[in-house]
Amino acid sequence: MSSGTASLDIEFRQPTAEDGAALHRLIAACPPLDTNSTYCNLIQCSHFAGSSVVAQSGDGRLLGAITGHLIPERPNTLFVWQVAVHTDARGHGLGVRMLEALVKRLQPHGVEYMETTVTDDNHASWAMFGRLADNAGAELHRSVFFDRDRHFEGAHDTEFLARIGPLTATAP
Ligand SMILES: CC(C)(COP(=O)(O)OP(=O)(O)OC[C@H]1O[C@@H](n2cnc3c(N)ncnc32)[C@H](O)[C@@H]1OP(=O)(O)O)[C@@H](O)C(=O)NCCC(=O)NCCS
Repeated sequence: MSSGTASLDIEFRQPTAEDGAALHRLIAACPPLDTNSTYCNLIQCSHFAGSSVVAQSGDGRLLGAITGHLIPERPNTLFVWQVAVHTDARGHGLGVRMLEALVKRLQPHGVEYMETTVTDDNHASWAMFGRLADNAGAELHRSVFFDRDRHFEGAHDTEFLARIGPLTATAP
C-alpha cells in the first residue's frame, strides 16, 4: 500500500498557533477522530507544539498532523493524542513518517516510549503503529485503557492502549 511520500514536497514542522484553525478542519474531516474546540486545537499548537508535528505541502496545505504530550509523571513517554492524514494523502506512508519525525525530534530529550489509544476496529491505525514498531525494532504491547462500560458508560468503544518501545533505534 505504501508507495512512499519521500519524493513529495512535504515539510514536517512544529505547529504554531496559526495552524490551529486548519488543524481543527483537518480533524473534523478525519472520522472517527473526536473533534475538539478550536480553542483546544490552539492550545495544542502552542503549549504542546513541542510534542506535536504537522505535515505541510509545498502549496501550504495541511496534509497531516499529530498532537501529543509527554506524560507528566513519565516524561520519557510521548502520548499521541490524535493522528490525522488528509484523505488525499493516505496510504503513502505519511502517517508513519510523521510519527518517526516526532520520535526523532524527541529522542534527544529522553523520549523512549510512545503510547496511544486505538479502538479495536481502527485497522489503519493499528497497521500504522505496528509499522512504526517494526521499523524501530520495538515491541507493541496492547491492553485495555478506557473501557466501553467502565469509563464511557456504553457510549464509546473501548480504547486500547498501545505502548511501543523502547525506541532506541533511529528512524530511517
Ligand atoms: C490512520 C491514518 C492516520 C493512517 O495514515 P496513512 O498516512 O494513510 O498511513 P501510512 O500510509 O503511513 O500507513 C501505515 C501502515 O498502515 C497501513 N494502512 C494504512 N491505511 C490502512 C487501512 N485503511 N487499512 C489497513 N491498513 C492500512 C499501510 O499499509 C501501512 O502498513 P505497511 O507499511 O505495513 O504497508 C489515516 O488513515 C487517518 O487519518 N485516519 C483517520 C483518523 C484516524 O483514525 N487516526 C488514528 C487514530 S489513533
